[in-house]
Order: sequence, then C-alpha cells, then structure tokens
Amino acid sequence: MKATLVIKNVDNLITLKGENKPRVKESLKDIGIIKNGIIALNGEKIIYVGEGELPSDIIVDEDTIILNGIGKTVTPGLVDSHTHLVHGGSRENELAMKLKGVPYLDILAAGGGIHSTVKSTKEATFEELYNQAKKSLDTMLKFGVTTIEAKSGYGIDDFDTELKQLEVANKLNEDHHVDIVSTFMGAHAVPKDYRDNPDDFVDIIIKDMIPEVARRKLAKFCDVFCEEGVFTIDQSRKILLAAREYGMEPKLHADEIEPLGGAELSAEIGCITADHLIAASDIGIEQMAKSGVIANLLPGTSFNLQTGKFARARKMVEAGVPIALSTDYNPGSCPTENLQLIMSFGSLIMKLTPEEVITAVTINGAAALGLEREVGSLEIGKRGDIVMFDSPNLEYIIYHFGVNHVDTVVKKGKIAYK
Ligand code: NIG
Ligand code: FE
Repeated sequence: MKATLVIKNVDNLITLKGENKPRVKESLKDIGIIKNGIIALNGEKIIYVGEGELPSDIIVDEDTIILNGIGKTVTPGLVDSHTHLVHGGSRENELAMKLKGVPYLDILAAGGGIHSTVKSTKEATFEELYNQAKKSLDTMLKFGVTTIEAKSGYGIDDFDTELKQLEVANKLNEDHHVDIVSTFMGAHAVPKDYRDNPDDFVDIIIKDMIPEVARRKLAKFCDVFCEEGVFTIDQSRKILLAAREYGMEPKLHADEIEPLGGAELSAEIGCITADHLIAASDIGIEQMAKSGVIANLLPGTSFNLQTGKFARARKMVEAGVPIALSTDYNPGSCPTENLQLIMSFGSLIMKLTPEEVITAVTINGAAALGLEREVGSLEIGKRGDIVMFDSPNLEYIIYHFGVNHVDTVVKKGKIAYK
C-alpha cells in the first residue's frame, strides 16, 4: 500500500496502543513508547506504526510527505473533551471582583457571570460567533488539539440562541481541521424569568428543546450544570433521562463547587462523563468507578476560580475511575484554549503522572466523547491525527509549562499546522 505521509526517526513515539477503551489502573502504566519510531499514513488513516524502517509492502514515492522525528516526541492528536467554545464577548470585567474574593456563584446569582455571556451571545450574529470560535479553534489546533467537544448553554431560555450556537459548532466542524462533537446544555443557568419557578424551565427543556435538538441532529450529548442555586439533583436527573430517550448521551457538570451528589447521580444514571468533581464525595468516587463513568477533570477552572480546591485526582485514579483532562474553555471560569497548560496543572497541581496525563488527553479524552475506536491512539486503522512536539520526552512537555511545544500537527493525514 502507498504511504501518503510518513513520520520517521521519531525519538519518542507515544502510541497509547491497547484496547479501545478508557484506561484505568494497571493499563495506565504502559503508554506504548517506541524509540526510533516510524508511522505511515494513507490518506486519513494510519497504515503502519513500528520501529526503524517501513516494511517493503508500504510504498514510498516522490509524492509521499516525509517528516523527520529526530529530537521529537510524537503523540496522538490531543482531545479537549469539555469546552464552551461558541460564545459572544469575554468577561475580563470579572477579574476585579475575583481579586476581591467575590465567589463565582455570587456573581451568577447577581445576574452576572453566565447571564452576561448569554446577553453577548444573544446579541452576536452567526458570523460573529463563528469568527470568534474559529479564532479559538485555530489556537487549540496550534496547541496540538485535533478533536474537541463544544457545548451550547449561552441561550438558555432563548432557544434560538442555543440553536445558533450548535449550528455554529456544526459549521465549524465542516470547515475547520479540528473535529467538533456537540453537546446541548440548555440547562446551564436558571433564566432570570424562571427564578421563582425553575421547574417550568426544566419542563420546557424536556418537552420542547430536547426533542427539537434531537430532530435537527445537532448534539450527541446533553449536559446540565448541577449546582447549588442552579439545577438540583432531581432536575438534572429528569433532564438527562429525557435526553437519553432522544438519543443524547448524558454528561454532567458535577460537584464543581458544592458537594451536591453529582458524582453519585452520574453513576446512578450511567453518564459517559462527570465533569469538574472538585467537591465529589468518597462514595461518589467509588460509585463512578463501579459504573465506569469517566471523570473529566478541569484544573484550569480551579485555578481561575481561586478557591485553592482541586479535584482529588489521585484518589480517583486509585479508586479505578478513568480520568480525562480538559480545558473547560469558557469566558467565565477558564478563559484558555491551552490544553498543554492544563496537562501541566494536571501533573504539577493534581499529581497525575506524565503517563496518566497523556492518557487523559488522548485515549481517555476520546472515550469521553465516545470516539475511542476512531482517535486517541496511534494504531493501524485509526485516524491520522498526530502531534509532533519539539521535545525530547513527554516529561519535558509537562514540566516546562506555559509555552507551546508543538512543532507540527497532522490532522486526518494532512499537515494542519507547522
Ligand atoms: O464549566 N460551571 C458552569 N459552566 C462553566 C462556566 C461557564 C461560564 O462561567 O460562562 C464551567 O465552569
Ligand atoms: Fe464547563
């Protein structure tokens, strides 16, 4: 078979080869490193991964693109499995309040926070939202990210804005190198008009919004912000079970600030992921391990919220919960597109090992989006999504933090960034 692109002489080829499922416990240790590695693609797909030279049945000719991996660490394309990519405006006006110690939920309760982004997103045209999100996607790609998740949730009761966000994500998925998987998150805040009767809004989400999002095939997942003063455990359960009836798999913003029992709920209903989990209980963590719910940890949010509290990642790893790491890119609690910084936080603050970190942003991130058979590892038949880091080893990428180590990004077999 002909190779259309080859990366050869790779100092550290990190394949994450294994079973196509989220990794826990023992399987976290072997990340499939090949020294002097070589990888060949035909079109969008990987056709060979090994050491040294290509076997003779793989044909290299003058059209084959050859990249040199000397001095490089090569990994699967990174997956950022939790973002609020599409939104209008920005919220640096909250910095002064944050520095004074005003809590995130107080800003929200006073009509700021998410509500102010709802206003900017409503006011923005499709093109404005598209251009702003495209700029962020370009940045993500430069940082080695080849697949992301993107949530709605800045329209809330203004359903047209929810749809507009999902349609922007859809269009960008068609136009941009980075693949986007969409999540419907109408239950992101209780709209001002429903403060006294939030259950009425929950009914609208269930009866009107979820069926329409499903009919238009605009989202693969449904998510709820289950939090003190936002949506309760019961409301979250109702919404997510309804979404599942319409084919949208449940995700949950769980125990981000208060220990409401979001981890327990995610295990009870079998969410694909529970995200944040800063205040998750011991029992919740055990239950997640039993049900196989992926913990999607977002240390950039803890950093930005300045509470000094981070998810108990080590406890989760030891309990056997699969871990993914994501940016949570959004204008209010984590305004960064830089997943490499989050990898450093995952290690330097949450004490994840380099092996656990790279797993969390590749195969486990892919599994957090139900894409573990297509992406997340470098194996024959998988998508040619590959990052070349200008780095002698994995540790260097994580330890030398805050800068971009990417040399080249290959997306579906094409050079998407160099
Ligand atoms: O994941 N917690 C709720 N949603 C986002 C923040 C959204 C915002 O503040 O705009 C989060 O932290
Ligand atoms: Fe979030």
